[in-house]
Amino acid sequence: MAQLSILRYPDPRLHKVAQPVGRVDARARALVADMLETMYAARGIGLAATQVDVHERVVVIDVSEERNQPLVLINPEITWASPERVRGDEGCLSVPDIYDGVERAARVKVTALDLDGQSRTLEADGLLAVCIQHELDHLQGKVFVEYLSPLKRSRIKAKLQKQERERLKQSAPAL
Ligand code: NI
Repeated sequence: MAQLSILRYPDPRLHKVAQPVGRVDARARALVADMLETMYAARGIGLAATQVDVHERVVVIDVSEERNQPLVLINPEITWASPERVRGDEGCLSVPDIYDGVERAARVKVTALDLDGQSRTLEADGLLAVCIQHELDHLQGKVFVEYLSPLKRSRIKAKLQKQERERLKQSAPAL
């Protein structure tokens, strides 16, 4: 297993659309293992393959307190979303330290392949429902800040670009 590096907004690769996984084979399972390790190390509750620059429809989630209930969704599709909506603050491993309100469906049904390539359907509510919608957006190349106002979005972009410049400066060799 290996930890993968996570793309940060506004990296343009976060806007690529992911392709379906052809076969749930050893390669796909290795990707899932690396994504889980990366998500747990970063203390995230969800990670989409897009965020580690792999443009395939793979998502890992764990919303449990104990961090021991990994959920793997391969080729996930939301087949139903409740008309009831909820609004809550969201964050993202690709948008560090930024949290803002996003409106989502309160409940969703999602169909996906598991690690054995079996098709499963899951009905989710609460945090899990929000997380599923957030991660599936990533697979479409969409980051949650795109739901915010253009003003907020440009402020976030400027802040993260500044952070990135500082980071590069700090890691540059002193001459
Ligand atoms: Ni995210």
